[in-house]
Amino acid sequence: MKNSLKEKIEEMRDWLVEIRRTIHMYPELGFEEVETAKLVGIWLEKFGLEVKTGIAKTGVVGLLRGERPGKTVAIRADMDALPMEEASQIPYASKIKGKMHACGHDAHVAILLGVAKFFSSNPEQVKGNIKWIFQPAEEGGGGGRIMVEEGVLENPKVDAIFGAHVYPQIPIGTVGICEREALAAADRFTIKVMGKSGHAASPHLAKDPILAAGHLITQLHSIISRNVNPLESAVITIGKVQGGTAFNIIPDEVELLGTLRTLSSSLREALKARIEEVTRGTARSFGMDYQFNFEYGYPVLVNDPEMTRLVASACAKGIGDEHVKNLGLSLGAEDFAYYLEKAPGSFFRLGIGNEAKGIVHPYHSSLFDIDEDVLPFGVEMFVRIIDQFLGLELTK
Ligand code: NI
Repeated sequence: MKNSLKEKIEEMRDWLVEIRRTIHMYPELGFEEVETAKLVGIWLEKFGLEVKTGIAKTGVVGLLRGERPGKTVAIRADMDALPMEEASQIPYASKIKGKMHACGHDAHVAILLGVAKFFSSNPEQVKGNIKWIFQPAEEGGGGGRIMVEEGVLENPKVDAIFGAHVYPQIPIGTVGICEREALAAADRFTIKVMGKSGHAASPHLAKDPILAAGHLITQLHSIISRNVNPLESAVITIGKVQGGTAFNIIPDEVELLGTLRTLSSSLREALKARIEEVTRGTARSFGMDYQFNFEYGYPVLVNDPEMTRLVASACAKGIGDEHVKNLGLSLGAEDFAYYLEKAPGSFFRLGIGNEAKGIVHPYHSSLFDIDEDVLPFGVEMFVRIIDQFLGLELTK
Protein backbone atom coordinates (compact mmCIF):
# COMPACT_ATOMS: atom_id res chain seq x y z
CA MET A 1 0.00 0.00 0.00
CA LYS A 2 2.91 2.29 0.85
CA ASN A 3 4.21 2.34 -2.69
CA SER A 4 0.84 2.72 -4.26
CA LEU A 5 0.14 5.75 -2.04
CA LYS A 6 3.28 7.48 -3.27
CA GLU A 7 2.58 6.40 -6.84
CA LYS A 8 -0.99 7.58 -6.74
CA ILE A 9 0.10 10.99 -5.49
CA GLU A 10 2.98 11.12 -7.97
CA GLU A 11 0.41 10.75 -10.77
CA MET A 12 -1.00 14.13 -9.73
CA ARG A 13 2.32 15.95 -10.09
CA ASP A 14 1.67 17.75 -13.39
CA TRP A 15 -1.80 18.75 -12.28
CA LEU A 16 -0.46 20.08 -8.96
CA VAL A 17 2.27 22.05 -10.74
CA GLU A 18 -0.23 23.54 -13.16
CA ILE A 19 -2.53 24.68 -10.36
CA ARG A 20 0.31 26.15 -8.37
CA ARG A 21 1.72 27.99 -11.40
CA THR A 22 -1.68 29.34 -12.42
CA ILE A 23 -2.16 30.81 -8.96
CA HIS A 24 1.44 32.02 -8.96
CA MET A 25 0.97 33.91 -12.24
CA TYR A 26 -2.19 35.64 -11.05
CA PRO A 27 -1.56 36.61 -7.43
CA GLU A 28 -4.31 38.33 -5.44
CA LEU A 29 -3.97 40.29 -2.20
CA GLY A 30 -5.83 39.63 1.06
CA PHE A 31 -9.65 39.62 0.80
CA GLU A 32 -9.33 40.01 -2.98
CA GLU A 33 -8.69 36.31 -3.74
CA VAL A 34 -11.67 36.14 -6.10
CA GLU A 35 -10.13 34.14 -8.95
CA THR A 36 -8.13 31.91 -6.61
CA ALA A 37 -11.27 31.15 -4.60
CA LYS A 38 -13.17 30.46 -7.83
CA LEU A 39 -10.52 27.96 -8.94
CA VAL A 40 -10.61 26.28 -5.52
CA GLY A 41 -14.41 26.11 -5.55
CA ILE A 42 -14.54 24.62 -9.06
CA TRP A 43 -12.17 21.81 -8.16
CA LEU A 44 -13.83 21.04 -4.82
CA GLU A 45 -17.20 20.82 -6.61
CA LYS A 46 -15.67 18.55 -9.23
CA PHE A 47 -14.42 16.30 -6.44
CA GLY A 48 -17.98 16.06 -5.16
CA LEU A 49 -17.41 17.82 -1.84
CA GLU A 50 -19.94 20.00 -0.04
CA VAL A 51 -18.67 23.49 -0.84
CA LYS A 52 -19.30 26.82 0.84
CA THR A 53 -17.93 30.05 -0.62
CA GLY A 54 -17.88 33.68 0.44
CA ILE A 55 -16.79 32.98 4.00
CA ALA A 56 -14.75 35.90 5.39
CA LYS A 57 -15.34 37.51 1.95
CA THR A 58 -13.32 35.15 -0.25
CA GLY A 59 -12.80 32.05 1.90
CA VAL A 60 -13.90 28.60 0.73
CA VAL A 61 -14.67 25.48 2.77
CA GLY A 62 -15.05 21.96 1.41
CA LEU A 63 -16.42 19.01 3.34
CA LEU A 64 -16.14 15.31 2.64
CA ARG A 65 -18.46 13.17 4.73
CA GLY A 66 -17.08 9.70 5.04
CA GLU A 67 -19.27 6.68 4.56
CA ARG A 68 -18.59 5.50 8.10
CA PRO A 69 -18.88 7.60 11.28
CA GLY A 70 -15.79 9.00 12.94
CA LYS A 71 -13.98 12.17 13.96
CA THR A 72 -13.74 15.39 11.97
CA VAL A 73 -10.36 16.67 10.89
CA ALA A 74 -9.68 20.01 9.18
CA ILE A 75 -6.75 21.19 7.11
CA ARG A 76 -6.14 24.79 6.15
CA ALA A 77 -4.41 26.77 3.41
CA ASP A 78 -4.01 30.53 3.02
CA MET A 79 -4.56 32.04 -0.45
CA ASP A 80 -3.22 35.60 -0.41
CA ALA A 81 -0.18 37.09 -2.11
CA LEU A 82 1.97 40.11 -1.23
CA PRO A 83 2.10 43.68 -2.59
CA MET A 84 5.55 43.42 -4.17
CA GLU A 85 7.19 42.96 -7.55
CA GLU A 86 8.54 39.55 -8.59
CA ALA A 87 12.14 39.95 -9.73
CA SER A 88 12.91 36.56 -11.24
CA GLN A 89 12.47 35.60 -14.90
CA ILE A 90 10.88 32.20 -14.36
CA PRO A 91 8.30 31.39 -17.08
CA TYR A 92 5.48 31.32 -14.53
CA ALA A 93 6.46 34.61 -12.84
CA SER A 94 3.68 36.94 -11.72
CA LYS A 95 1.76 38.60 -14.54
CA ILE A 96 0.24 41.13 -12.18
CA LYS A 97 2.30 44.24 -11.55
CA GLY A 98 3.09 44.87 -7.90
CA LYS A 99 1.72 41.55 -6.67
CA MET A 100 3.58 38.34 -5.98
CA HIS A 101 3.23 34.99 -4.23
CA ALA A 102 6.41 35.44 -2.23
CA CYS A 103 5.34 33.36 0.75
CA GLY A 104 4.32 30.13 -0.98
CA HIS A 105 0.59 30.37 -0.33
CA ASP A 106 0.09 29.28 -3.96
CA ALA A 107 1.73 25.98 -3.00
CA HIS A 108 -0.45 25.66 0.11
CA VAL A 109 -3.59 25.91 -2.04
CA ALA A 110 -2.32 23.37 -4.59
CA ILE A 111 -1.32 20.90 -1.87
CA LEU A 112 -4.73 21.04 -0.17
CA LEU A 113 -6.47 20.54 -3.52
CA GLY A 114 -4.24 17.50 -4.07
CA VAL A 115 -5.38 16.09 -0.73
CA ALA A 116 -9.00 16.68 -1.78
CA LYS A 117 -8.39 14.90 -5.08
CA PHE A 118 -6.85 11.97 -3.23
CA PHE A 119 -9.61 11.40 -0.67
CA SER A 120 -12.49 12.17 -3.01
CA SER A 121 -11.38 9.31 -5.23
CA ASN A 122 -11.52 6.96 -2.22
CA PRO A 123 -14.61 8.14 -0.30
CA GLU A 124 -15.46 4.60 0.76
CA GLN A 125 -12.20 4.48 2.69
CA VAL A 126 -13.01 7.58 4.73
CA LYS A 127 -14.58 7.30 8.14
CA GLY A 128 -15.44 10.55 9.83
CA ASN A 129 -15.24 13.87 8.01
CA ILE A 130 -12.51 15.84 6.34
CA LYS A 131 -12.85 19.60 6.07
CA TRP A 132 -10.76 21.81 3.79
CA ILE A 133 -10.39 25.45 4.83
CA PHE A 134 -9.08 27.95 2.26
CA GLN A 135 -8.77 31.31 3.96
CA PRO A 136 -8.10 34.82 2.72
CA ALA A 137 -5.67 37.38 4.08
CA GLU A 138 -3.08 35.65 6.22
CA GLU A 139 -0.53 38.41 5.51
CA GLY A 140 -1.71 40.87 8.12
CA GLY A 141 -5.45 40.82 7.42
CA GLY A 142 -6.31 38.15 9.99
CA GLY A 143 -8.52 36.19 7.57
CA GLY A 144 -8.17 33.19 9.88
CA ARG A 145 -9.80 35.05 12.77
CA ILE A 146 -12.83 35.90 10.63
CA MET A 147 -13.10 32.35 9.29
CA VAL A 148 -13.22 31.09 12.89
CA GLU A 149 -15.79 33.77 13.84
CA GLU A 150 -17.92 32.74 10.87
CA GLY A 151 -18.00 29.21 12.21
CA VAL A 152 -15.73 27.15 9.98
CA LEU A 153 -14.74 24.98 12.94
CA GLU A 154 -18.42 24.02 13.56
CA ASN A 155 -20.97 21.87 11.69
CA PRO A 156 -19.49 19.37 11.95
CA LYS A 157 -17.35 20.39 14.89
CA VAL A 158 -13.65 20.01 14.12
CA ASP A 159 -11.79 17.65 16.47
CA ALA A 160 -8.35 18.60 15.19
CA ILE A 161 -6.86 20.97 12.65
CA PHE A 162 -3.56 20.90 10.78
CA GLY A 163 -1.82 23.52 8.70
CA ALA A 164 1.56 23.71 7.02
CA HIS A 165 3.84 26.37 5.64
CA VAL A 166 6.56 25.82 3.08
CA TYR A 167 9.89 26.60 4.69
CA PRO A 168 13.10 27.46 2.84
CA GLN A 169 15.38 26.97 5.87
CA ILE A 170 15.04 23.18 5.80
CA PRO A 171 15.70 20.99 2.77
CA ILE A 172 13.10 19.53 0.44
CA GLY A 173 11.95 16.15 1.69
CA THR A 174 11.92 17.17 5.34
CA VAL A 175 9.21 18.24 7.76
CA GLY A 176 9.69 20.69 10.66
CA ILE A 177 7.70 20.50 13.87
CA CYS A 178 7.52 22.43 17.12
CA GLU A 179 5.65 20.91 20.06
CA ARG A 180 4.15 23.87 21.88
CA GLU A 181 4.56 27.63 21.38
CA ALA A 182 5.88 27.94 17.84
CA LEU A 183 5.28 31.56 16.87
CA ALA A 184 4.84 34.77 18.85
CA ALA A 185 2.00 37.15 19.46
CA ALA A 186 2.90 40.38 17.68
CA ASP A 187 1.09 43.53 18.84
CA ARG A 188 1.49 47.21 18.17
CA PHE A 189 1.12 50.19 20.45
CA THR A 190 1.13 53.96 20.11
CA ILE A 191 1.82 56.32 23.00
CA LYS A 192 1.28 60.07 22.91
CA VAL A 193 2.95 62.10 25.63
CA MET A 194 1.06 65.38 25.82
CA GLY A 195 2.89 68.38 27.27
CA LYS A 196 2.61 72.09 26.60
CA SER A 197 4.55 73.97 23.96
CA GLY A 198 6.69 77.00 24.64
CA HIS A 199 10.02 78.73 24.06
CA ALA A 200 13.14 76.63 24.50
CA ALA A 201 14.62 79.33 26.73
CA SER A 202 11.65 79.30 29.12
CA PRO A 203 11.07 75.63 29.93
CA HIS A 204 9.42 76.55 33.23
CA LEU A 205 6.52 78.05 31.28
CA ALA A 206 6.08 74.90 29.16
CA LYS A 207 5.77 71.16 29.77
CA ASP A 208 8.45 69.41 27.78
CA PRO A 209 7.16 66.12 26.29
CA ILE A 210 10.56 65.35 24.74
CA LEU A 211 12.19 65.01 28.14
CA ALA A 212 9.23 62.95 29.39
CA ALA A 213 9.40 60.70 26.31
CA GLY A 214 13.12 60.19 26.91
CA HIS A 215 12.44 59.01 30.45
CA LEU A 216 9.54 56.91 29.27
CA ILE A 217 11.62 55.01 26.70
CA THR A 218 14.12 54.08 29.42
CA GLN A 219 11.33 53.10 31.84
CA LEU A 220 9.60 50.93 29.25
CA HIS A 221 12.78 48.95 28.74
CA SER A 222 12.90 48.19 32.45
CA ILE A 223 9.67 46.17 32.03
CA ILE A 224 11.41 43.33 30.21
CA SER A 225 14.32 43.21 32.63
CA ARG A 226 12.26 43.60 35.86
CA ASN A 227 8.77 42.22 35.18
CA VAL A 228 9.46 39.19 32.99
CA ASN A 229 10.71 35.90 34.37
CA PRO A 230 14.27 35.66 33.03
CA LEU A 231 13.48 32.15 31.78
CA GLU A 232 10.69 33.49 29.57
CA SER A 233 11.08 35.63 26.46
CA ALA A 234 9.44 38.87 25.43
CA VAL A 235 10.43 41.94 23.48
CA ILE A 236 9.40 45.58 23.67
CA THR A 237 10.82 47.71 20.88
CA ILE A 238 10.13 51.37 20.29
CA GLY A 239 10.53 51.67 16.56
CA LYS A 240 9.49 55.23 15.94
CA VAL A 241 9.74 58.50 17.88
CA GLN A 242 8.15 61.61 16.51
CA GLY A 243 7.98 65.09 18.00
CA GLY A 244 9.18 68.64 17.67
CA THR A 245 9.86 70.97 14.78
CA ALA A 246 12.83 73.21 15.61
CA PHE A 247 15.79 73.65 17.97
CA ASN A 248 14.17 76.45 19.95
CA ILE A 249 10.63 75.16 20.37
CA ILE A 250 9.33 72.87 23.08
CA PRO A 251 6.59 70.92 21.24
CA ASP A 252 3.11 70.05 22.45
CA GLU A 253 3.47 66.30 22.14
CA VAL A 254 5.68 63.37 21.28
CA GLU A 255 4.45 60.13 19.73
CA LEU A 256 6.10 56.75 20.26
CA LEU A 257 5.31 53.65 18.16
CA GLY A 258 6.33 50.24 19.36
CA THR A 259 5.78 46.51 19.18
CA LEU A 260 5.29 43.90 21.88
CA ARG A 261 6.22 40.26 21.17
CA THR A 262 5.26 37.59 23.66
CA LEU A 263 4.95 33.82 23.80
CA SER A 264 2.06 33.42 26.21
CA SER A 265 -1.29 35.17 26.44
CA SER A 266 -0.88 35.77 30.18
CA LEU A 267 2.41 37.56 29.67
CA ARG A 268 0.94 39.42 26.73
CA GLU A 269 -1.87 40.84 28.89
CA ALA A 270 0.45 41.53 31.81
CA LEU A 271 2.91 43.47 29.67
CA LYS A 272 0.19 45.38 27.87
CA ALA A 273 -1.09 46.56 31.27
CA ARG A 274 2.42 47.30 32.47
CA ILE A 275 3.26 49.42 29.40
CA GLU A 276 0.24 51.58 30.10
CA GLU A 277 0.99 51.76 33.83
CA VAL A 278 4.56 52.90 33.24
CA THR A 279 3.35 55.42 30.67
CA ARG A 280 0.77 56.81 33.08
CA GLY A 281 3.27 57.02 35.94
CA THR A 282 5.95 58.67 33.86
CA ALA A 283 3.57 61.17 32.29
CA ARG A 284 2.13 62.04 35.72
CA SER A 285 5.58 62.57 37.19
CA PHE A 286 6.04 65.33 34.59
CA GLY A 287 2.52 66.67 35.13
CA MET A 288 1.43 65.56 31.68
CA ASP A 289 -1.34 63.63 30.03
CA TYR A 290 -0.92 60.67 27.74
CA GLN A 291 -2.84 58.58 25.24
CA PHE A 292 -2.23 54.86 24.94
CA ASN A 293 -3.50 52.81 22.05
CA PHE A 294 -2.88 49.07 21.84
CA GLU A 295 -3.63 47.09 18.67
CA TYR A 296 -3.74 43.33 19.02
CA GLY A 297 -1.98 41.43 16.24
CA TYR A 298 -2.00 37.65 15.82
CA PRO A 299 -2.02 35.66 19.06
CA VAL A 300 0.67 33.20 20.15
CA LEU A 301 0.59 30.09 18.01
CA VAL A 302 0.44 27.17 20.43
CA ASN A 303 0.64 23.69 18.96
CA ASP A 304 -0.95 20.79 20.79
CA PRO A 305 1.87 18.43 21.85
CA GLU A 306 -0.13 15.27 21.18
CA MET A 307 -1.21 16.45 17.71
CA THR A 308 2.36 17.51 16.96
CA ARG A 309 3.60 14.04 17.89
CA LEU A 310 0.94 12.64 15.57
CA VAL A 311 2.29 14.81 12.73
CA ALA A 312 5.81 13.59 13.50
CA SER A 313 4.91 9.91 13.60
CA ALA A 314 2.59 10.04 10.56
CA CYS A 315 5.19 11.86 8.44
CA ALA A 316 8.03 9.64 9.68
CA LYS A 317 6.20 6.61 8.29
CA GLY A 318 6.72 8.09 4.83
CA ILE A 319 10.11 9.77 5.17
CA GLY A 320 11.84 8.27 8.21
CA ASP A 321 12.44 9.85 11.62
CA GLU A 322 15.65 11.46 10.45
CA HIS A 323 13.69 13.72 8.09
CA VAL A 324 11.38 15.08 10.77
CA LYS A 325 13.17 18.02 12.37
CA ASN A 326 12.42 19.64 15.68
CA LEU A 327 12.45 23.38 15.05
CA GLY A 328 12.75 25.99 17.75
CA LEU A 329 10.18 28.71 18.16
CA SER A 330 10.35 31.94 16.25
CA LEU A 331 9.12 35.46 17.00
CA GLY A 332 7.33 35.61 13.66
CA ALA A 333 3.52 35.38 13.67
CA GLU A 334 0.79 33.37 11.84
CA ASP A 335 -2.96 33.63 11.93
CA PHE A 336 -3.30 29.82 12.10
CA ALA A 337 -3.00 30.68 15.81
CA TYR A 338 -6.73 31.60 15.82
CA TYR A 339 -7.77 28.07 14.82
CA LEU A 340 -5.50 26.58 17.49
CA GLU A 341 -7.22 28.72 20.13
CA LYS A 342 -10.42 26.76 19.39
CA ALA A 343 -9.28 23.28 18.41
CA PRO A 344 -6.22 21.14 19.12
CA GLY A 345 -3.90 20.78 16.20
CA SER A 346 -0.48 21.49 14.85
CA PHE A 347 1.20 23.86 12.43
CA PHE A 348 4.21 22.31 10.75
CA ARG A 349 6.72 23.17 8.02
CA LEU A 350 7.38 21.56 4.68
CA GLY A 351 11.01 21.94 3.63
CA ILE A 352 11.59 23.56 0.22
CA GLY A 353 15.28 24.45 0.47
CA ASN A 354 17.29 23.17 -2.50
CA GLU A 355 20.58 24.89 -3.35
CA ALA A 356 21.08 22.86 -6.53
CA LYS A 357 17.83 24.28 -7.91
CA GLY A 358 18.56 27.78 -6.60
CA ILE A 359 15.77 27.61 -4.04
CA VAL A 360 17.57 29.60 -1.37
CA HIS A 361 15.61 32.83 -1.02
CA PRO A 362 13.71 33.68 2.17
CA TYR A 363 10.02 34.50 2.48
CA HIS A 364 9.00 37.88 1.09
CA SER A 365 12.10 38.08 -1.11
CA SER A 366 11.41 39.27 -4.67
CA LEU A 367 13.28 36.11 -5.79
CA PHE A 368 11.34 33.70 -3.58
CA ASP A 369 10.39 30.40 -5.24
CA ILE A 370 9.68 26.86 -4.11
CA ASP A 371 11.02 23.45 -5.08
CA GLU A 372 7.87 22.07 -6.69
CA ASP A 373 8.72 18.61 -5.39
CA VAL A 374 7.04 19.92 -2.24
CA LEU A 375 3.65 19.69 -3.98
CA PRO A 376 3.33 15.88 -4.12
CA PHE A 377 5.40 15.68 -0.94
CA GLY A 378 3.01 17.98 0.93
CA VAL A 379 -0.01 16.03 -0.34
CA GLU A 380 1.54 12.82 0.97
CA MET A 381 2.27 14.31 4.39
CA PHE A 382 -1.29 15.61 4.80
CA VAL A 383 -2.75 12.30 3.58
CA ARG A 384 -0.65 10.44 6.16
CA ILE A 385 -1.66 12.83 8.96
CA ILE A 386 -5.37 12.56 8.13
CA ASP A 387 -5.06 8.80 7.72
CA GLN A 388 -3.52 8.46 11.15
CA PHE A 389 -5.90 10.88 12.87
CA LEU A 390 -9.05 9.27 11.46
CA GLY A 391 -7.61 5.76 11.83
CA LEU A 392 -8.15 4.86 8.17
CA GLU A 393 -5.10 2.64 7.85
CA LEU A 394 -4.64 3.59 4.19
CA THR A 395 -0.90 3.91 4.46
CA LYS A 396 0.05 0.87 6.49
NI1 NI B 1 3.06 32.89 4.67
